[in-house]
Order: sequence, then C-alpha cells, then structure tokens
Amino acid sequence: MIKIAEIISGTEISKQIKNEVKAEIERMEKEKGKRPGLAVILVGENPASKVYVASKQRGCEQVGIMSESIKMDDSVSTEDILKEIEKLNSRDDIHGILVQLPLPEQVDKNKVLEAISPDKDVDGFHPINMGKLVAQKDCFVPATPLGIIEMLKRTNIALKGKNATMVGHSEIVGKPCSLLLLNEWATVTICHIETRDLKMHTKDADILIVAAGVPYLIKEDMVKEGAVVIDVGINRITKDKASSELLEWRKEDFDKKQATLIGDVDYLRVEPKASYISPVPGGVGPMTIAMLLKNTLMAAKKTVGMK
Ligand code: GUN
Repeated sequence: MIKIAEIISGTEISKQIKNEVKAEIERMEKEKGKRPGLAVILVGENPASKVYVASKQRGCEQVGIMSESIKMDDSVSTEDILKEIEKLNSRDDIHGILVQLPLPEQVDKNKVLEAISPDKDVDGFHPINMGKLVAQKDCFVPATPLGIIEMLKRTNIALKGKNATMVGHSEIVGKPCSLLLLNEWATVTICHIETRDLKMHTKDADILIVAAGVPYLIKEDMVKEGAVVIDVGINRITKDKASSELLEWRKEDFDKKQATLIGDVDYLRVEPKASYISPVPGGVGPMTIAMLLKNTLMAAKKTVGMK
C-alpha cells in the first residue's frame, strides 16, 4: 500500500481565519463604528516585495481592513522613512504599520523597525515585541511563525514533548518560530548554515519546519517516517533551471509563466514518508497573510476597547 501524507492546506485554513477576522470587523463596525487600518511602507522596486504587498492589500480588502500603501524611492534615506512612520504613529485611523523588508543598503533597518510604535507593530519585529515573546507576555508575534503554529493547532497536531527541528534562524521566521514551539513545550533544535550535521537533527524531528530558502535542501533520507513537515521556503524556479521531473509536475505553471514556485523540501520524495506535509504554494504563504490581518484586527480592537 502506498502511504500518502495528509496535506495541510494553508489555503483552506487561512480562509477560515479570514472569515473569523471578517466577522469580528463587522462586529467592530456595528459596535464601535470603526474599521481597522493598516499602512504598508514599500521601498524600491523589489519584485517579490511588490507581490507580497499586493497580496497583503488584497487580504485587507477581503476582510474589510482599510489599507494604505506608501511607496518610497530606492534612494530614500532612513530619516525620510522615520518621518513617514512618525506620521503614521500619530494617526488614529491607522492601527497597524509595516515596513516591507528587505530595505535598501543605505537604510538603517533597525532604526526603522524601532521607530514603529510597538502598539502598531503588527509584524512583531520591534525589539519590545520580540522581548515580550521571549518573556511570554501578550505581544505582536511575526505573522509567518504565528501562521505555522496556527496551522499545526488547527490540524490537531500535538506539540507538547515532541522533538521539533527548525531549519533556519532568521529574525522573521526561525527564531520566533522556535520560541513559539518552546512555549508549546516542544523540545526544539535550531539548525542554521553552520550546523555540522543537518541530517542528524532533521531525522530526529517529529515536527520539521524548514525556512532556509534553499530548494531541495530536505531529501527523503533526512526525514523520520511519520514526521510532520512544514515547508516555509518560497523558491522561484525558471524553466531553464528546472529538472525534467519538475517540468512535468508543474507543466501548467511553466507553460503559463515560464516559472514555478517550490519550497525547501523535495516534496515528491518526502511526502510519502511524512504523516502531514504543507505544500508550496498553498501552505505557509496564505497563513502569513491571514495572521497579519488577525494581528491588525488585534491592534485595532485594543485601541477601540473591544474584547
Ligand atoms: N519580507 C519578507 N517577509 C516579510 C514579512 O513578514 N514582513 C515584512 N514586513 N517584510 C517581509
């Protein structure tokens, strides 16, 4: 018998979350006469950033969040961005502020992130929110790791006492995700580029979360039988770089767009070994958007005094 892993559909779970957020926003309008507002600062012309910002705005429209995008030139200075943030910090109709990363080299990213009011920091990148996450205080948590935990919880995957291996140690995903797993009483291992024996750690994982940005990093011999595999990678593979297997699997994408998106996990080989697996696309990506919308709702609820 061929075993097939259950697919954890971020697309489906994110729809549920968006419906819940939408219902809460309708209640806010009825009870308080207000709607949440999100401001997104986009600097430069990074194509991936443009796509991400557009899908964040589409998500806002779907649930009834007022969204505003501020586009700034590639040559912008740190001070120019700080001025915009100051204005947004003082506006009553803006409850969430996010600055799309990466920023150009001349901009001091830390200064920018620290200028956002921690109460409007829906990305959860402000050191105050990061510190509160460590201390397990009520705070904004970055949307991607929050989405990962939410998809595990809504799939009824227990975390307590499990071996969880996080591949990737970024501030945006790896570090906060490791803390969330730890807060759920998982035994957490964090791997990164200097990890000597990656396979030893991935093979030990009941829950394997991969956010390295390296296509095909995780092969089937690196995964324990029955593991839960969450793939955070988003890698664009163009037709000229694709294997014949990928060309066949994603024929429609290549015919239409000359490219496809894959994660960090060798999906076709790992899937038969896993008990649950999240696909790319349609896994963590849509969860990130849904959790950002939820964070924005949370920010607005606090300011209008709604439980
Ligand atoms: N760039 C990549 N991921 C993110 C994210 O979650 N938030 C922001 N602001 N920028 C990003």
